[in-house]
Amino acid sequence: MRLAVLTGGGDCPGLNAAIRAVVRKGEVGFSDQLIGYRDGWRGVMEGDSLELSVAACRGLLPRGGTVLGTSRTNPYKKEGGSRAVLKTLERDGVDALVAIGGEDTLGVASRLAAEGVPVVGIPKTIDNDLSATDVTIGFDTAVEVAAEAIDRLHTTAESHDRVIVCEVMGRHAGWIATYAGIAGGAAAILVPEEPFDIDAVCSYLERRHAKGRFASIVVTAEGALPAEGTISVASPELDQFGHPRLGGISNTVAAEIEKRTGFESRVTILGHVQRGGTPTAFDRVLATRFGTAAVDAAHEGAFGQMVALHGPAVERVPIAEAVARPKRLDRTLFSSVAEVFFG
Ligand code: F6P
Repeated sequence: MRLAVLTGGGDCPGLNAAIRAVVRKGEVGFSDQLIGYRDGWRGVMEGDSLELSVAACRGLLPRGGTVLGTSRTNPYKKEGGSRAVLKTLERDGVDALVAIGGEDTLGVASRLAAEGVPVVGIPKTIDNDLSATDVTIGFDTAVEVAAEAIDRLHTTAESHDRVIVCEVMGRHAGWIATYAGIAGGAAAILVPEEPFDIDAVCSYLERRHAKGRFASIVVTAEGALPAEGTISVASPELDQFGHPRLGGISNTVAAEIEKRTGFESRVTILGHVQRGGTPTAFDRVLATRFGTAAVDAAHEGAFGQMVALHGPAVERVPIAEAVARPKRLDRTLFSSVAEVFFG
C-alpha cells in the first residue's frame, strides 16, 4: 500500500510521535511505502510531499512540533481546492491518507471521505475539544506546562501580595483552564462554557484575602466570556476557518479585579509555550497507539473513520461524528470539583 500522512491546524506536542508510529507500523508491519505531505492540506493541494521511512523518523519520539510542517489551509475555501487534492492523491498513487488534526483538518477529511477519498483520522489538539474521543494528542502536555507555570506564579504572587491572572489556550472549551486550574490550586477559573461575572470573581478573591491570604491565581481560558451586561471585551479578527484569533482577555480581567478590589494584579499569558516542546509520556504513548491503530484501520479499509480513546481502549468512530460539534467541558467536573476550591 502507498500510505500518506499529514499534520494540519495548530501544532502540538506528540505530532512527531504519531508520524513515527504511522511510518513504523506501515513500513515494518505491512511493507507499505510512506509519503508525507508538507503543511497539512496545503501540501496535498499543491503536490508538495516527501518520502518517509523508519530511518528518516529516528529521534522523532520526544521532539515537539511536526517535521511535516502544518498550516490552517482549507481546500474548500480555495477555488478548485478539493479537485486539486483528488488530483494529487491520484498522481501520487496514494491508497490511504492518514490526516492528523483537530476539528478543521478533520472537518476537511470528513468532507473528502464523503467524496470517496480513502482517509483515516487521528485526533490532536491541545484544546481537547474534539468530540467522540476521551482525549486528544497534546492536551496532557499542555496541562502539564500550564500547571507548572501556575506553581511558579504562586511563589511570586505570594512574595508580592498580588493577584496573577494566568491565561491559557482554549477558544471554545475550558479543558486546559479547568485541568490546570485544579492541578495548580486556582482561586477562580474562567471558561468559555460558563460566562463569568467579574463581581463574583472579585468576591471569591475578597473572601480568600479576608482569611489572611494576600495572593491568588486566577486561571482564564483565552475564550472565556463575561456574562451579558457585565464587562465588555474587544471582538477579535477571524482566521481561514472563521475562528477568532484570541488572546488578551486576562488584561481586562486583571484590570477589573484591581479596580474593584484594590488588589495589585498582574497578567501572564502562556500562549504558544503550551504548544511547544517535548510531549509528556502520556502523549507519546497516546500518539503511538493512535498512529499504529490508524494504519490498521487503513489496511482494513475503515475510511472516513477516526481512531479514538474510549476508557482504556482505542476504537474507531466516524470522523463526521468527531467534528459535528466541539466537545465542551464536563460541567460536573467544573461545578462539583473545580468550583469547590474557588475563593
Ligand atoms: O490549536 C488550537 C489553538 O491552540 C487554540 O487554543 C488557539 O486559539 C489557537 O490554536 C491559536 O493558534 P495560532 O496562533 O497558531 O493560529
